[in-house]
Amino acid sequence: MKQDDKLIRMDMGAVSSNDCGNTNTDSRAVLCLGIESSCDETSAAIVDSNRNILSHIIYSQIPEHQKYGGVVPELAARAHILAIDDVIHQTLQAAGKTISDIDVIAATAGPGLIGGVLVGWMAATGIAQSTHKPLVAVNHLEGHALVPRLSATSASGNSCGNSVDFPYLLMLASGGHCQILLVRDVGQYELIGQTIDDSAGEAFDKISKMLGLGYPGGPIVDKRAKLGNATHFHFPRPLCDKPGCNFSFSGIKTAARVILDKHTGEKDDQFINDFCASFQAAVVDCITNRLEHALATDVVKTVAPKTLVVAGGVAKNSAIRAAMEKLATEHDMIFAAPPMSLCTDNGAMIAWAGLENWRKGKIVTAPIAPRPRWPLTEL
Ligand SMILES: Nc1ncnc2c1ncn2[C@@H]1O[C@H](COP(=O)(O)OP(=O)(O)OP(=O)(O)O)[C@@H](O)[C@H]1O
Ligand SMILES: [Mg+2]
Repeated sequence: MKQDDKLIRMDMGAVSSNDCGNTNTDSRAVLCLGIESSCDETSAAIVDSNRNILSHIIYSQIPEHQKYGGVVPELAARAHILAIDDVIHQTLQAAGKTISDIDVIAATAGPGLIGGVLVGWMAATGIAQSTHKPLVAVNHLEGHALVPRLSATSASGNSCGNSVDFPYLLMLASGGHCQILLVRDVGQYELIGQTIDDSAGEAFDKISKMLGLGYPGGPIVDKRAKLGNATHFHFPRPLCDKPGCNFSFSGIKTAARVILDKHTGEKDDQFINDFCASFQAAVVDCITNRLEHALATDVVKTVAPKTLVVAGGVAKNSAIRAAMEKLATEHDMIFAAPPMSLCTDNGAMIAWAGLENWRKGKIVTAPIAPRPRWPLTEL
């Protein structure tokens, strides 16, 4: 592969997962090689059972998909094939390890774009079979859900926090999902609420596309929102006047289209900033409202989780982090989020979920078929 220049190296060498220098060096630590390829990132990482990320490589395909305004599945699968061997090789090299040093192999086996999932899963299966090492089939969403136990931060994303203990209430907001889950243990997820149409990440991406701001939309809308007036435009807060914990974002997207079509004047920087700020405020209000309802449900009150967690790519959003931290404080809970680098898709979350499942004895003993759809509640 002649794409070395495109590789983004992260957390190289033996570093603490908490990014704060407290590397744990227990020589009996179990090492897991994790592989992620479910969307547009080819990634691998070596994580140990003491929560150290020894190496982490993320090859992002974003530049290849940007001109189409979203991920093209066939292009993604081809790009994963071109990158996977090199990404794994460089991950081992960066950690100063060979495959014989690795104890557990883990890879995403779904849900996701099936062409990409197959590439990572077949690579992991090949390595595990040829080296006789245990193989873990990781649910990608469980990777997002468990990564705060590898590393957690406060709302700013800068300071170190402790790992999150079970049970916790999780807002899982990513490109393809928007769910509130009660996380009782590894493999034990209770669905409290979910979107009835689009995910929050998709809404951010669509708004960005409407404004011609590019893909992925979340980071740029977040940035522009900081410069705008959140009360300038009125966006609806779908379902917020209704009981329950479900979300709906399609009405916000429609409202965005209507506002844009009505506006005949120039869409200058101030317009775009105000538009992004007003849209984002609506998303934040919906998330806060639905979480309030979730905290009031009998099951959540009975289990009484001490920590409120946000995970998935949308967890990078500064306003969502801040609102959730405020909500947690109001409910006498701790707020936790993964560090920014572990919110969007990455191999470290798969390696960590691999280790957590391996500890529970959940290893692959017979051939399995990767799944494009694989709800967490089916684990
Ligand atoms: N700062 C941000 N604010 C809001 N959204 C963001 C931000 N940064 C990234 N995102 C969004 O996160 C999404 C990508 O997250 P992620 O990588 O977890 O999704 P995915 O893997 O495609 O979906 P899934 O995990 O559901 O399969 C995109 O929709 C992107 O716009
Ligand atoms: Mg994801």
